[in-house]
Amino acid sequence: MQNDRATPTGYRVVSRVAETHDTATLILEPTTTVPEQRVAPGQFMMLYAHGVGEIAVSISGHPEGIHSGLSHTVRSVGAVSKAIHDASVGTILGVRGPFGHGWNLDVDRGADLLIVAGGLGLAPLRPVVVAALASRQRFRRVTLIVGARDPSNILYRGELAAWQVSDAIAVEVTIDQPVSRWTGPVGFVTESLHRVAIDPACTTALLCGPEPMMRFSASSLIDRGVGAENIQVSLERNMQCGTGTCGHCQLGELLLCRDGPVVDYATAQPLLRVPEL
Ligand SMILES: Cc1cc2nc3c(=O)[nH]c(=O)nc-3n(C[C@H](O)[C@H](O)[C@H](O)COP(=O)(O)OP(=O)(O)OC[C@H]3O[C@@H](n4cnc5c(N)ncnc54)[C@H](O)[C@@H]3O)c2cc1C
Ligand code: FES
Repeated sequence: MQNDRATPTGYRVVSRVAETHDTATLILEPTTTVPEQRVAPGQFMMLYAHGVGEIAVSISGHPEGIHSGLSHTVRSVGAVSKAIHDASVGTILGVRGPFGHGWNLDVDRGADLLIVAGGLGLAPLRPVVVAALASRQRFRRVTLIVGARDPSNILYRGELAAWQVSDAIAVEVTIDQPVSRWTGPVGFVTESLHRVAIDPACTTALLCGPEPMMRFSASSLIDRGVGAENIQVSLERNMQCGTGTCGHCQLGELLLCRDGPVVDYATAQPLLRVPEL
């Protein structure tokens, strides 16, 4: 069961953590009793700031399961995202959803999981990492590559630091340009990808970030033998209804609120040159 898909339900901000200078993670809890909901990593909700507007925001918290609270990480880039980013504890936001298809983690036992995130793209992938670590025995290698413009733009630093010292997951955090006091890798995630050992026959890759980053990463993986059908990307288009009725999120034959936002690259690749309507 889920919230009303057409009418926002009131959710209160119960926690707000500033991740970077322009990005915050909010935990939202319903103001009334709502049906228990199943929310999968990669799905999104429509968040409404009263009197300002509504945007699509990915689930950034707990993995698949039944939970009444929601975690969302929002970057302030325009009027609506600023209003939601700035919402203080106690603010009531409207919430619809969940919408769309999330990441498909139904892979063969013993598969390698390769997760590549650029910038805010780590938000919808964070619950995947949590889910993968919770059922770690299902996978052989779990690898996370995170790219950020500079160290000040790295999200979830505490969790990343814990994952970096864990034997359960290999983590590489890379920044675009060298800066003083940064001793980690410098360069785009595609350069980090070249350093990762890949067994193409059993690799499932999940990519989220700016579209060029996903395209370059996917072609690098395809060049190394990974099947396009084993690469998943999360695509962003203008979402309005979220229910597959308004057509704003059309990409080729897909309505991304209904058929995405996570799409396998065999499907996405030919469509990525189709302009948004
Ligand atoms: C499936 C899906 C999931 C999403 N998940 C998240 C999420 O988890 N967190 C989140 O913050 N946003 C997320 N977004 C983006 C969000 O829905 C909005 O598009 C974005 O916040 C801008 O909305 P706005 O109305 O504030 O700004 P607008 O008025 O639409 O844009 C203001 C300016 O910012 C630019 N801009 C728009 N989007 C971005 C962007 N993503 N990065 C940089 N500049 C941008 C625009 O080109 C414009 O110049 C998601 C979108 C989709 C489709
Ligand atoms: S947002 Fe309306 S059809 Fe997808």
